[in-house]
Amino acid sequence: MSERILVTSALPYANGPIHLGHLAGAYLPADIFVRYHRLKGSDIIFICGSDEHGVPIMLKARAEGVDPQKIVDEFHERNKKSFADFGIDFTYYGRTSSPVHHQTSQDFFRTLAQKKQFILKKEEQLFDPEAGIFLADRFVRGTCPSCGYDDAYGDQCEKCGTSLSPAELINPRSAITNAKPVLKETTHWYLPLSRYQKKLEKWIASHPEWKPNTLGQIKSWFSEGLKDRAVTRDLPWGVPIPEDIAKQEGIDASGKVLYVWFDAPIGYISATREWAIKQGNPDLWKEYWQNQNTRLVHFIGKDNIVFHCIIFPAMLAEHGQYVLPDNVPANEFLNLEGNKLSTSRNYAVWLEEYLQKFEPDSLRYTLASNLPETRDTDFSWKDFQARHNNELADILGNFINRTVTFAHRYFEGKVPPLGTLDAFDEELVSVLKKAPALLGGHIDNFRFKLYIKDFMDMARFANKYFNDREPWKTRKSNPSQCATSINLCLQTCFILSVMGAPVIPFTSRKIWKLLNYYKPDFWDYDDFRMLPDSHKLNTPEILFTKIEDGPIATEIERLQKANPVNIPRQEQELIDIETFSKVKLKIAEILKAEKVEKADRLLRLSVRVGDETRQIIAGLAKHYQPENLIGKKVVVVYNLAPAVLRGLKSEGMLLAASDENQLTLLTVMEDIKSGADIR
Ligand code: MF3
Ligand code: ZN
Repeated sequence: MSERILVTSALPYANGPIHLGHLAGAYLPADIFVRYHRLKGSDIIFICGSDEHGVPIMLKARAEGVDPQKIVDEFHERNKKSFADFGIDFTYYGRTSSPVHHQTSQDFFRTLAQKKQFILKKEEQLFDPEAGIFLADRFVRGTCPSCGYDDAYGDQCEKCGTSLSPAELINPRSAITNAKPVLKETTHWYLPLSRYQKKLEKWIASHPEWKPNTLGQIKSWFSEGLKDRAVTRDLPWGVPIPEDIAKQEGIDASGKVLYVWFDAPIGYISATREWAIKQGNPDLWKEYWQNQNTRLVHFIGKDNIVFHCIIFPAMLAEHGQYVLPDNVPANEFLNLEGNKLSTSRNYAVWLEEYLQKFEPDSLRYTLASNLPETRDTDFSWKDFQARHNNELADILGNFINRTVTFAHRYFEGKVPPLGTLDAFDEELVSVLKKAPALLGGHIDNFRFKLYIKDFMDMARFANKYFNDREPWKTRKSNPSQCATSINLCLQTCFILSVMGAPVIPFTSRKIWKLLNYYKPDFWDYDDFRMLPDSHKLNTPEILFTKIEDGPIATEIERLQKANPVNIPRQEQELIDIETFSKVKLKIAEILKAEKVEKADRLLRLSVRVGDETRQIIAGLAKHYQPENLIGKKVVVVYNLAPAVLRGLKSEGMLLAASDENQLTLLTVMEDIKSGADIR
C-alpha cells in the first residue's frame, strides 16, 4: 500500500505579500517533497492557507482605517495567486477567517476545556485606556531593566536578548497610542504546558532523526522548563471563544478570542476539512488527521519551532484523536545580498515582482541549491544569474537541446534504435538506474541541496557522454553506435525531466512536450528505457534563454537603495568630538570567565583595568568558550554606569564587532598593559 502523508506549510500571515524568505523557509522545500511523493504515487496531500488573525493585522487595519477583513481578503487572494504562479502546488489553500475554521477551532477548544486541559488564571494585565484594548506582549514598549535600552518589547529586549514580561518594563507605553498602560483585571485560559513536559520529552526522544537545529531549540525550551501559556486574548479580532464554555466558568465571553497561535495551527485541520467537503467526502479529512498510519510533516521556518514541536503537539495529544507530527523540518533564515531581510524597509525580494520579470523555475532552482537547511544562507542576484546561465541553460538546457536537435536533424525527429551497449553506455545506464533511489533518498531525508547537486551532476555527466560519444562523427563512421548514443541521450532527457520535476516543474512540462511523452507516477521506474524505438518527437524549443547583466544590476541597485548600511553619510546622525570624548575606553585583561547559571547567553568575567579588578557580565556565551578568553586584552567602556544583570553586578561593557554571521571581541594588535587609555 502506498504511504499516506499529510504535508503542511506554515500559514503565512495575510497582511503582506510573499517574499523569498518565506519561500526558502516553508514553501519550496515542502513543494519539492510533495511533488516527489506524487511522482512516487504516494497518497499525499499538501495543506496551507492564510493566517488571518493576530495583533499585527489588527494594527495594520487600525492604521489604515479599514476593517481587518478587508486586509486579509486582499492578501489572501494575492498570496494564493503568487504561490500558484510560482508552482507551489497546494492540495488546498484555506484561510482562518472561514466559518469552517471558526467552528473547528472552537470545537477543539471546547474539547480541551471539557477534558479539563486548561487552567483559568485571573490576573491584572496592561490595558491601553486610549485604544480600549488589552495590550499583547509585543505591543507594550519600554525601557529594558537589564540593559537600559529604551525601546524593548514587552516580551523581549532586542538589544540584550533578555526575556521579559511587560510588567518588568520601566516606563511602559502602548505601541499603538503611546498612552501609559493601566493594569486591569482579566481572566484567561492557559494551556498547562508544564504539566505535559514529561510526556512531550518522551515523545521528542522518540525522534532522534529530526534535524539537529530543530532538536537543539526544543531541548533548550525543555531545559528552561515549559511555562503555561495563555491561549485566549482580549482582542476585537480573532476567533471568539465558545460562549458555552465561558458561561460554565461564569465569565463574560465578549471581547475574548482564541490566541492566534492556538487557532492558526488548527487552520491546517480546518483547511483539510474544507478540502474534504469540496471533494464531496466530508469525512475524508479524518483519514489523514485521525489515522495513526499518516505521516504528518510540518514545513516551517525556525521562528515557528516551539509552536509546531511543543505547543501544537501538546494540543493534539491532549485532544486525543489526532496524529502527532512525524517530522518538522525547520529551516534557518535566508539573507539577501549579505544583509538580513527587512520587510519594513522593503529590503526583500517580493515574489509578485519577481514573477513579472523572470521564470519561476530559475528562482526555484537557485533557492533550492542554497536552502538554509542547517544554517542561514545568502541569496544574491549574481548567484541567481550564474545558476540560471551556467547550470540550467548551459548544462541541462544544452544537453536536452542538442539531443533533440540531433534527433531531428539526422533521425527524422524519431527515437533511433538502441543497439548493443559498450562499457561507456553501461556507465550512463547505471547512472540512470541509480537516480531514483539516490535523489529520492535525499528528498526523503530533507537534504534538498544535495538532491539539486546530484541532479545537476547527472545532467553534467549526460553532457560529457554526448561530447565523448561524438555522434556528429559516428554518424558516418559508426551509424549504429550513433543511433545507440542518441537513443540513450533521449532516454536520459526523459529521466532528467522526471528527476528534476520536483524542483523545476515548468521546465519538465516543456521537456515532456518536446519528447511527446509523459507518464505519471514514474519515479520508481524499473526500466530506464521509456521511449520506444521510432517514437516521434516534437520540434525542439529553447528551454532557457540567458539572463543578461542589465536586469540583474537593476535588482541589485533596488536593494542597495533599501539597505540602511548604504544611507549616505550626511543623513546619519553626527556627534561632535566632545560628545565622543565623554566615552572613556580602556584596555582590560580578562582574568576569569565562567558561565552564568540559567542564562545561556551570559558570561561572568573578571577583568583587570590598571590595578583595579571589575566584574563584567557580557552576552558572549554563544560566541566564546570561557577558557579561551583568559588572558585576552580587550576594550572596555570604563565609565559606563553599572547595571545589574540576572542579579549580578556588571561594571562596564566590552566592545565587540558583529555582522549577521559572527561576533568577535575587539582586542589590540600589540601587547599593551591593562588600563591603557584608548583615544
Ligand atoms: N503565520 C505564522 C507566521 O508567519 C505561521 C503560522 S503557522 C500555523 O509565522 F501553524 F500557525 F499555522
Ligand atoms: Zn536589554
